[in-house]
Amino acid sequence: MKTPLVSGIQPTGRLHVGNYLGALKNFVDLQNLGRYDCRFVIVDLHALTEHITQKEQRRNILELAADFLAAGIDPKKSIFFQQSQVPAHAELTWVLSSLTPMGELNRMTQFKDKADRHGANVGLFTYPVLMAADILLYDSKVVPVGEDQLQHLELARTLARKFNERYGRTFVEPKPLLTEAPRVMNLLNPAKKMSKSDPNGCVFLDDEPNVVANKVRRAVTDSGSEIIFDPVGKPALANLLRIYAAVGSTTVKRLESRYRGVGYGTFKRELGDVLVEHLAPMRERKKKFMRDPAKLRRVLERGSKQANKIAGDKFADVRKKLGLSL
Ligand code: TYM
Repeated sequence: MKTPLVSGIQPTGRLHVGNYLGALKNFVDLQNLGRYDCRFVIVDLHALTEHITQKEQRRNILELAADFLAAGIDPKKSIFFQQSQVPAHAELTWVLSSLTPMGELNRMTQFKDKADRHGANVGLFTYPVLMAADILLYDSKVVPVGEDQLQHLELARTLARKFNERYGRTFVEPKPLLTEAPRVMNLLNPAKKMSKSDPNGCVFLDDEPNVVANKVRRAVTDSGSEIIFDPVGKPALANLLRIYAAVGSTTVKRLESRYRGVGYGTFKRELGDVLVEHLAPMRERKKKFMRDPAKLRRVLERGSKQANKIAGDKFADVRKKLGLSL
């Protein structure tokens, strides 16, 4: 039997290299291993916490669907769906809310960050409970995510345990699965995570080749001139080496020996070339998918139907365990 796996991405704008190397690329690799029952979800209910207009929301969902398919998610191998079309996600959220102490949510660093930037709404506060529901409905043993989601995943584990203790064995406690680049940093500030809130420090997957090359060329480097991997002493360079290793299908060690005695300028130019080469086919495929939105809708509709079957059965069991089914 294959191992159940679930992960999701918010449709809140363009994906960047952090999303790709921390999550999406790994989704594709895991899907193609053939060892996992993969479920990938566009978490559009999560995106509501950012007050996006109707037009933006619809466009963002289709764009993200195109990103997934362009990266290599294959709806024949994975269940690929839209969260809002599977009502059990919202229903289980309510059930899990009653098991969640306020204190657990108060501690969430992402809530604090976002509340500082956008102002707090209750959705933003309870968002990790919805994420727990996304995961627990599918008996997911593993959840591929970037490092910034670990705290949320810990809550999903806690809630699974609590529910099981109180109502009998129902949920699986999920484990995170990180990549070699679980926290890609801002190209202009290696102390900050790469995020779309700073477009200049961030390479978007659909940036034009000259834009990608320029962003990499302008990336900050550390003092000294040697290309060595030293995350503490040379955090900016360590970030570039991790990106290079991931998109160039090589290792940081091999890069160190290849660039011994070579300057930062050459290193960054070649990293730019490798990144452009890696992203270009995906950008072209995305354009093609965006020309056929009806197909994107069909793919998501079919996936959502499959997800509804699994999640609906799971939630029926939850209802029974809670004494709600008479
Ligand atoms: P989201 O949409 O913010 O990000 C999607 C994925 O990208 C990863 N990521 C990064 N990885 C490495 N370096 C970075 N700089 C970087 N920035 C983002 C994130 O860790 C994530 O894996 N709450 C989630 C979405 C979600 C989810 C789920 C994930 C909702 N339900 C269930 C897994 C399972 C989020 O907002 O990710």
